Amino acid sequence: SSHEREHWGSKLGLILAMAGNAIGLGNFWRFPYQAAKNGGGAFMIPYFAALLFMGIPLLIIEWSMGRYGGRYGYGTIGPMVYLQAKEGTTKKVALFLGSLAGAFALLIVVLLNSYYNHIIGWTLGYAWLTATGGYMDPSVDTGAYFVNYIQSPWLVFTFWLITLAILWYIARGGVQKGLERLAKIAMPSIYIFALILLIRALTLGTPVKTEWTPIKGLDFLWSPRWDELNWSATLAAAGQIFFTLSLGMGIIQNYASYLKDEDDIVTSAVATASLNEFAEVIFAGTIVIPIAFTFLGPDGLKSGVGLSFIALPNVFRSMVGGSIVGTFWFLLLFFAGITSSIAMFNYLVAFLEEQFNIDRKKGSTLIFALYVIAGLPVALEPILTKTSELLYLTELDNWVGSYLLVLLGLIEIITAVWLFKEKGLEEVNKGSYWKIPRWFYSIVMKLITPAFIVILLVFSTVEYARNGYLKLVPDFAKNYPNLIPWVFAARAVMVFLFVLCFITIYNALKNM
Ligand code: PHE
Ligand code: NA
Repeated sequence: SSHEREHWGSKLGLILAMAGNAIGLGNFWRFPYQAAKNGGGAFMIPYFAALLFMGIPLLIIEWSMGRYGGRYGYGTIGPMVYLQAKEGTTKKVALFLGSLAGAFALLIVVLLNSYYNHIIGWTLGYAWLTATGGYMDPSVDTGAYFVNYIQSPWLVFTFWLITLAILWYIARGGVQKGLERLAKIAMPSIYIFALILLIRALTLGTPVKTEWTPIKGLDFLWSPRWDELNWSATLAAAGQIFFTLSLGMGIIQNYASYLKDEDDIVTSAVATASLNEFAEVIFAGTIVIPIAFTFLGPDGLKSGVGLSFIALPNVFRSMVGGSIVGTFWFLLLFFAGITSSIAMFNYLVAFLEEQFNIDRKKGSTLIFALYVIAGLPVALEPILTKTSELLYLTELDNWVGSYLLVLLGLIEIITAVWLFKEKGLEEVNKGSYWKIPRWFYSIVMKLITPAFIVILLVFSTVEYARNGYLKLVPDFAKNYPNLIPWVFAARAVMVFLFVLCFITIYNALKNM
């Protein structure tokens, strides 16, 4: 690869961009309903265990793998895994691992982002509708209102295409003038919005029922309930750690590939993880949970994915200053989403640069077009079938947005700590202010973290079988016979894209 690689302009810019990458809809939209659905206090125990023993060690490994790849001119993980793996195994096996990792990452950045961009679009649409009073009339059923939204071509396409256009514009600007500049505006905005919302959440005043106070809502999240601790809460918690830290997606490595060779890894990775966790458990936990609890009680917390788009709008219109609070909430989601989605967009731009020598400007336009095409089925399912069950999205999310991350994480850690051998620790510590001690590397990174990931993978597979995801017609689709083709379409897209990406990357790595 011949072109000159860009670098991050400043340490602050780097940390903000990495925090922007991690802090996303996962923090503000996914975390609250995962925690609520899985018992609150019972969820937080495995959550923190997974953060410390799996999340942060793997995050450090990903940073280090990314900086290593950038040194050789690569910003995608196919070549990164290949280069590290071939130090400890045959060329054949390294080729296979590199192609597999590279293909999985492409599947994730194309398909996960194809629906994530839609959810970002919804948040922008809802910010607009909240500000302009769309659902403020108490006679409006917010559930039906949401269904109406996703079935309205006008609303869906307008806000989704605006989202994609913004991503396109930022990606064209490159690392310093695009990604870094965005982070410097969006990240402080997120923290300011969150702070305002947090103050509002804790000063809600008279609850609907006397026992539904904001503090009781906090209690729900923060009282450990060991007796409620079970496997499915543990899996959900570990899965959330993967998602929220952007692990097993390739995008941390991509951002880290723009580091300079002596840039600190350990401190920076820990700093970004901390910013992410602050946004997740302190902000999201202290905004969404108390608001939902005060107005809707324990049942309100159980409203699942609808918490943000159905339950909260219902709350905003009955609270003082609700339309402002609601608008801030959806703008917060929007900013958080954009700064994550751009990392996936940029991954693809980098892929086109290094594989096909396509420059950034042209590449950004191609990726814009790719996302329009990839996102089309997501938009069309509810519009064409007049449904509110997003089965195409669900099937993609089950595999690409949940399962593949863990599988890719496993390939990464095997490569970086077992195949790359002693060089792995040297790489991590090079330029780092805090050094990872050898015993920690040998015990945690080489054994505990991989074991954690293997266990997560095995039990997730069992859970998938139990939930009927492995059947020809998965259980969640059984009651919607006319939507089953959408499930098959999702599978066809995944298989087709996987084969295409695997072959493309394999051929490129072979000639390296
Ligand atoms: N860490 C991100 C989040 O919490 C995950 C993500 C990144 C999802 C990029 C989509 C795109 O939302
Ligand atoms: Na996150």
